[in-house]
Amino acid sequence: MTMDSDLSRIGISLPSNLLDKFDDIINQRGYSSRSEGIRDAIRTYITYYKWMSDVKGEREGVITMVYDHDQRGLLVTLTDIQHEYHKLIKASLHSHVTHNRCLEVILVHGDGSDLKLFAERLMSQKGVESVKLTTIQVEE
Ligand code: NI
Repeated sequence: MTMDSDLSRIGISLPSNLLDKFDDIINQRGYSSRSEGIRDAIRTYITYYKWMSDVKGEREGVITMVYDHDQRGLLVTLTDIQHEYHKLIKASLHSHVTHNRCLEVILVHGDGSDLKLFAERLMSQKGVESVKLTTIQVEE
């Protein structure tokens, strides 16, 4: 059993469709409460962030991004960010998944910390559903 010495209570506002999706998942996975699901999600987020922080040195990889095509101004913003980081980008592939969702795969090469900054910039835009950075070391 994990001992979290102090429990803090927080209140958060979420779009109801996001909460519905979250509830579906925690029901499927058999969590006893929404709080337990949220604790687990936060732990996963922290682990992922720490793992991202370990991306250092010369790297080759892919960024996989899903976003809402209908989010106002988002397409222009994402293109601007990619131009800003053009030196890291070798190729990209765009798939129009549904009427309003896009999947983009960006092949990248460069210093791990720059790749991380680039991925984080994409991730922080409103309307971006997910961004995953996967890399390998160039030197074996
Ligand atoms: Ni598209």
